Amino acid sequence: MESVTQKKSEQEEIVELANQKNLFLSPEALQLLEKASIADAKKALQELADENVFIVNSNDIENKLIRTKITPIVEMEVSMPTSFKPLAKEYNANYRELKEYNLSASDTCDGSVQDFVKLFRDKLDFMQSILKNRQGFSPKPLDSLKESTQKREVNFIAIVQEKWVSKKGHLAFRLEDIEEECIALVLKDNAELMEQGNRILLDEVIGIKGTKGMGDLVIIKEILQPDLPLRSPKTVEVPLNACIISDIHAGSKLFLEKEFQQFLKWLNGEKGNPKEKTMVGKIKYLFICGDNVDGIGIYPDQAKNLAVKDIFEQYQVLEKLLLNIPEYIETFIIPGQHDSVRWADPQPPIPKEYAPQLHKQSNIHFLPSPGWVEIEGLKTLMYHGAAIHELYGTLGNLSMSEPQKAIIEILKRRTFLLNYGSKQPYAPEQKDFLSIREAPDLYFGGDMHHFGSDTYRGCTIINGGCFQSQTEYEIKQGHVPTPGIAAILGLENRKITLKNFLEEQP
Ligand SMILES: [Fe+2]
Repeated sequence: MESVTQKKSEQEEIVELANQKNLFLSPEALQLLEKASIADAKKALQELADENVFIVNSNDIENKLIRTKITPIVEMEVSMPTSFKPLAKEYNANYRELKEYNLSASDTCDGSVQDFVKLFRDKLDFMQSILKNRQGFSPKPLDSLKESTQKREVNFIAIVQEKWVSKKGHLAFRLEDIEEECIALVLKDNAELMEQGNRILLDEVIGIKGTKGMGDLVIIKEILQPDLPLRSPKTVEVPLNACIISDIHAGSKLFLEKEFQQFLKWLNGEKGNPKEKTMVGKIKYLFICGDNVDGIGIYPDQAKNLAVKDIFEQYQVLEKLLLNIPEYIETFIIPGQHDSVRWADPQPPIPKEYAPQLHKQSNIHFLPSPGWVEIEGLKTLMYHGAAIHELYGTLGNLSMSEPQKAIIEILKRRTFLLNYGSKQPYAPEQKDFLSIREAPDLYFGGDMHHFGSDTYRGCTIINGGCFQSQTEYEIKQGHVPTPGIAAILGLENRKITLKNFLEEQP
């Protein structure tokens, strides 16, 4: 009798609160609210009132109460079984953040025209420094073309300002260095060079080997991109592994929280057969490549896809999970376009205010995107991927299900600063953090929600999958992601092993 009275008073309380907030509850919505705790019901009504909702149906309430449903799952307890003796725990961590290449949280820029000019000047200087070292290439400034006679060989470095097909079918470029500009042509009968020329983007810095034509016209014989040097993968003699994941999207309704928990249990040696546990026990470094949370207001109408509608609470969900990473695993986290930092590249590290608990952990390191760190002597470049995103629409032969191919295109250009003025914004920092200053041994990315790997000129490329189910956007794009995957990389032999947690039973 007492509980009936109590239930009745709770029901009255909910109805009264709804009336006060000008919310009109459907009978189904009221039923759902009665099943929740009074605190959750009040919170849900307050949020709906804040959103100026008038008629509240059961869907509205379901969406609000999802957070309540996930809470018991997020409050997970992972403990390392005593039988699990990870080899990586016996090794001292050997890593160094390459701060000279990394934007720090204290770097600032005011975005003036001079800053942009300086950024482009820095980019040109850096690309020149690489291209000048190319064998058989002796570049001269463009204004020396005037002194050159017809049919003489000319070498120069320039930025692509314009590109078009001439009336006769040749591929024409307007190229510019700091002082001068010229028009250069790839003749249509040179099929191989036409194909290469077609893949050159606006704003790219290229080396040209050619012959002087009429006036200042140049006939192109060879196009050089800065590229990585030709080399074999560097090997290291430590029996340790790195693990690469990406795009967790905590806070999204589509966040694969159960699979992520299975991943954490596996990382702690709670799951897997003996052979697998040996491999897991060698994981000394974990790389998380951005879009750690789903964010707020990232795209129109995102709220309907969110299980957690507060950015701080999204990071709390993330923190509770990531605090289960074993303390002997050095973890490097970069932001993505869904995180709580600016969209423009370079993106600064996720600030302390959003993840205070993780910032306190000595084995968790927040890096910018792009972000550089050296592990066991291997130079590692992490980048979430927004600039690469644009390549899919610009260059042929690229597919969102093969992100490694798009990453190779970036490595050939040695920069994330592609066509300025396109969709991806750039912030003109005091230094150019977007050029790829060194040839990386390892490159880890995300963004595409699709696993991909390759080796290019000594660099092992791994694009992480995601922990989010297929989104509406991906359905519209016809893009099928590869969720629930962790990639394990052997640092000794660069062998990649995949573990799929979607196939795992709890
Ligand atoms: Fe993402």
